Amino acid sequence: MLVTKNSMIEKKKLSPIIIALDYQDPEQAIYFSKKISPQQCQLKIGQELFIKSGVFLVNYLHKKGFKIFLDLKLYDIPNTVKRSVYAIKKLDVWMFTLHIHGGKSMMLSARSALNFHKKNTPKIIGVTVLTSMNILELNHIGINTSSMLNHVIKLSVLAKKCKLDGIVCSPWEAKSIRKLFGKNFIIITPGIRPKRMYYDDQKRVMTPREAIRSGSDFLVIGRPITRADNPYMILKKILSDINN
Ligand code: C5P
Repeated sequence: MLVTKNSMIEKKKLSPIIIALDYQDPEQAIYFSKKISPQQCQLKIGQELFIKSGVFLVNYLHKKGFKIFLDLKLYDIPNTVKRSVYAIKKLDVWMFTLHIHGGKSMMLSARSALNFHKKNTPKIIGVTVLTSMNILELNHIGINTSSMLNHVIKLSVLAKKCKLDGIVCSPWEAKSIRKLFGKNFIIITPGIRPKRMYYDDQKRVMTPREAIRSGSDFLVIGRPITRADNPYMILKKILSDINN
């Protein structure tokens, strides 16, 4: 209960933006971080940067005051995931991800590695279906559903049962998940594109303003900001669009 309250308070005072630092080079990520502030956004470190510069980059950005969302999307046997979570715990990150498709035993094992009631325990976020996937691609991997929403809901229910703190889904599913689970479940949505921007490989997409109105707590935004000619101006514009 205590944690639930804490996450509510925390959600309210943080920026709704998480920038995906999907740079090839850790130096580019460091350069970028010097031009923005922890009041404007949190930062997401994904597999590429973590493989290249892992703990060093996490520590550097922590010293600058940024909260780190470690997006490694764990997916392995329960024992291996549990040991990875022990290692992640030492990094003091704000949140990290695992794939809900890894199953109940895997998620429970991850949960058991962390003390649910302790303040500043990293939050465990379950990835439902990648926002780059549509129903056809789900069918290709043997998931025979005709409704993306139903599948995402099914996965979210399982994540909640395993006491995960929240999920990643597309903004298209956020409204239904919010309705089902209420305010205390963290909903994070990638697949964000400001109007008239190229979708890249994303398929289930919404604008920042629409995604927030649909019930997302945090928007993960990468290329629309990091590949812009003036990323700092785009970040400010997105923040002002959301707030007005
Ligand atoms: O550049 P873009 O805004 O498309 O980046 C989205 C980020 O969100 C990427 O870092 C990607 O790994 C991540 N992500 C996603 N879909 C998920 C989970 C994470 O696109 N379901």
